[in-house]
Amino acid sequence: MWTGYRILIFSSLLTEIWMEKQYVSQRQVDPGADFTRNHTVLEGTRFKRAIFKGQYCRSFGCCEDRDDDCVTQFYEANALCYCDKFCERDTSDCCPDYKSFCHEEKEWPPHTKPWYPEGCLRDGQHYEEGSVIKENCNSCTCSGQQWKCSQHVCLIEPELIEHVNHGDYGWTAQNYSQFWGMTLEEGFKYRLGTFPPSPKLLSMNEVTAPLPAITDLPEFFVASYKWPGWTHGPLDQKNCAASWAFSTASVAADRIAIQSKGRYTANLSPQNLISCCPKNRHGCNSGSIDRAWWYLRKRGLVSHACYPLFKDQNATNNACAMASRSDGRGKRHATKPCPNNIEKSNRIYQCSPPYRVSSNETEIMKEIIHNGPVQAIMQVHEDFFHYKSGIYRHVTSTNEESEKYRKFRTHAVKLTGWGTLRGAQGRKEKFWIAANSWGKSWGENGYFRILRGVNESDIEKLIIAAWGQLTSSDEP
Ligand SMILES: *[C@@H]1O[C@H](CO)[C@@H](O)[C@H](O)[C@H]1NC(C)=O
Ligand SMILES: *[C@@H]1O[C@H](CO)[C@@H](O)[C@H](O)[C@H]1NC(C)=O
Ligand SMILES: *[C@@H]1O[C@H](CO)[C@@H](O)[C@H](O)[C@H]1NC(C)=O
Ligand SMILES: *[C@@H]1O[C@H](CO)[C@@H](O)[C@H](O)[C@H]1NC(C)=O
Ligand SMILES: *[C@@H]1O[C@H](CO)[C@@H](O)[C@H](O)[C@H]1NC(C)=O
Repeated sequence: MWTGYRILIFSSLLTEIWMEKQYVSQRQVDPGADFTRNHTVLEGTRFKRAIFKGQYCRSFGCCEDRDDDCVTQFYEANALCYCDKFCERDTSDCCPDYKSFCHEEKEWPPHTKPWYPEGCLRDGQHYEEGSVIKENCNSCTCSGQQWKCSQHVCLIEPELIEHVNHGDYGWTAQNYSQFWGMTLEEGFKYRLGTFPPSPKLLSMNEVTAPLPAITDLPEFFVASYKWPGWTHGPLDQKNCAASWAFSTASVAADRIAIQSKGRYTANLSPQNLISCCPKNRHGCNSGSIDRAWWYLRKRGLVSHACYPLFKDQNATNNACAMASRSDGRGKRHATKPCPNNIEKSNRIYQCSPPYRVSSNETEIMKEIIHNGPVQAIMQVHEDFFHYKSGIYRHVTSTNEESEKYRKFRTHAVKLTGWGTLRGAQGRKEKFWIAANSWGKSWGENGYFRILRGVNESDIEKLIIAAWGQLTSSDEP
């Protein structure tokens, strides 16, 4: 469970600010109000604390003259107490062992760091021995007056956010509450979910269909501007490792809408794929996009409205709730009503076999502008989770133990456009616009921009698309 121990050193600055407040409220403004040297109070506290009785000045030292920083927590009175010479004039807020300890000492030991009799401190708050708190993805236990924490690498790394935001990398990073508290391993395990492309997929021939030559591709292109209402925005896969299903269903839905010229604009159901795709029964445990496209061709999907995402992907009753059969005339029909019984249309949508688009930037652009968004397989590194805005390029973690932090896994997204912008170091940079499946609160409203033309994070390595399978009666 725990990979080791590490002692958390909480900011001494915070401690000082907190002490300052205590000082003002007690020593100057209202001396001794919360404080008493009444030993009946001491004796009334629990035994556990009583063993520390009298160990204040003895533990953290005595200070010369009046010293406002010379202070320690006096737990029995829930206040602060002092061990400086000021105590000889006014004893109202001095530690109980001031006289016995500081007077006996010939030489005053140097004032060291405040010492707390028991338990641990955190942001000015006191915790009992044995308390457990969560520190991002690690849990810390107060033991022997120190926090001992598990040592997982967390998905959100505040140092990395700072590094990216203070560097000139062309993008900004952010702390996401949905990722806070997860380990990096969990992020890779639950938020991605596409198997590395199979040799079969990689050996697929690139389509060299002679698209009408576009000598002047626009500098800026967004699929949703050209086809308003026909393309589909990002969904949220949550902790379901199924980007294989989300990206495929989304590209298929856009292309069916574009190809049918707006006759069929429904988004397609990733849940249908997750729950029903036979060889991807991993479902939320990753899958392969070739199986997803196989399913779209052979079985077809219903709409997202008909078969919405389950709230709890881990529930045991997530069995496949949809099936289709052929009518013998090349069309398939659903054999079950929609799992969402408010939706009446259980129409089955199918696609042609998928094809591979060239990795050539210009060819990808031509494919998108003519036929619609495409699927891209990319490598996600740890920094990508923090992306907020700008043009993404992989930034390596600067952490000393960076080996532990450097990881990447395969993910699948949808490319929907491109552009050019003055980015890092004031240079003009080309980018792709891509839809992720981490919800709209992530990135630029669920989308991200990434460097174009340099195979950034392998984004141009494998580009997949397909045609909607429309019968003659479907043609507009
Ligand atoms: C000490 O505490 C007791 C009980 O709380 C109280 O009766 C007594 O007056 C206190 N003595 C001083 C000196 O505050
Ligand atoms: C990140 O966000 C979480 C949840 O909103 C918050 O609890 C945490 O303190 C934030 N961390 C940092 C370093 O800002
Ligand atoms: C789903 O259940 C499995 C097995 O019970 C568990 O290991 C996994 O952590 C769960 N996933 C989530 C996201 O809760
Ligand atoms: C990409 O394709 C275009 C034509 O579509 C060609 O002019 C260009 O040289 C190709 N780029 C590379 C790197 O092969
Ligand atoms: C993209 O990068 C990956 C990994 O470096 C490489 O395997 C692939 O061939 C590259 N693709 C192109 C089109 O440059």
